[in-house]
Amino acid sequence: TFPKRVKIVEVGPRDGLQNEKNIIPTPMKIKLIDMLSEAGLPVIEATSFVSPKWVPQMADHAEVMKGIQKFPGISYPVLTPNFKGFQAAVAAGAKEVAVFGAASELFSKRNVNCSIDESVRRFDEILKAARAASIPVRGYVSCVLGCPYEGKISPAKVAEVAKKMYSVGCYEISLGDTIGVGTPGTMKDMLSAVMHEVPVAALAVHCHDTYGQALANTLMALQMGVSVVDSSVAGLGGCPYAHGASGNLATEDLVYMLAGLGVHTGVNLQKLLEAGAFICQALNRRTSSKVAQATCKL
Ligand code: HMG
Ligand code: MG
Repeated sequence: TFPKRVKIVEVGPRDGLQNEKNIIPTPMKIKLIDMLSEAGLPVIEATSFVSPKWVPQMADHAEVMKGIQKFPGISYPVLTPNFKGFQAAVAAGAKEVAVFGAASELFSKRNVNCSIDESVRRFDEILKAARAASIPVRGYVSCVLGCPYEGKISPAKVAEVAKKMYSVGCYEISLGDTIGVGTPGTMKDMLSAVMHEVPVAALAVHCHDTYGQALANTLMALQMGVSVVDSSVAGLGGCPYAHGASGNLATEDLVYMLAGLGVHTGVNLQKLLEAGAFICQALNRRTSSKVAQATCKL
């Protein structure tokens, strides 16, 4: 059985664009987010308040936050790696933030320049301030099905980090297959371990599609009771510290599948396709969404 409704967390404007080499003009990012709002996505991750030395593409975070239309009922979270980023995000009007950790020590070091334990201490600092300001905090765990530097990651390690992030107060834990190497089999084993530590209602999955498994892995998670799924318009995406990884599960493909299953998402596929076509044209890139490529219609 599947959940009756699924909350889609659209990560295209952040995960989708962060790895683009050429700096995308801010108005283009704003237009993409506005089109995604029009399409009815309930959560749109808008940008990251990370160091511009580390991720130059996200340097215009404050302008993006100020420029987008804030639709009622839609949430526009932003990534914050440390307290400095959290303060800047709040100053720019962010009403929700996300912290990001990893189940791999080497990935943590490369991505946020500290150990897993140190990253959790930083999150704790953010969470305390966020609680005082009534700002919900989402938590990512990266490398849940494999790491570009350490290889295999044990489900027990993922469960341990997810539990820590949940216990410091993240309301939702998004489990990231950062390099897209998982299969429904490894997804099942990993989720079974995590579900012992964190209630399934507080879990989300975030699948990159390097090996073409993202939709299958997501379907497995839905069958296991997960009802929050991250995806990216046109299948854009990639992490600058995970070379060779491809984009996220395409939102168009997820919406098409869920509609076919009779699962409610509230997303207008036609408007979503328009947003995908817009950003692909702007980036001069072919879409990675199969649904957007398809020409045969029912
Ligand atoms: P660091 O170099 O250790 O930080 O980087 P620092 O505290 O020593 O500061 C160094 C400089 O950066 C200083 O500037 C700080 O002011 C500045 P300087 O004095 O040299 O001029 N700085 C900042 N500037 C703006 N905003 C900030 C900020 N913090 C420091 N928040 C740091 C540590 C965490 C900052 C760095 O490693 C970083 O920004 N990392 C972000 C990496 C990133 O964005 N990765 C991609 C997102 S994660 C992802 O894609 C995975 C995900 O999709 C899930 C999945 O797929 O698995 C979420
Ligand atoms: Mg990602």
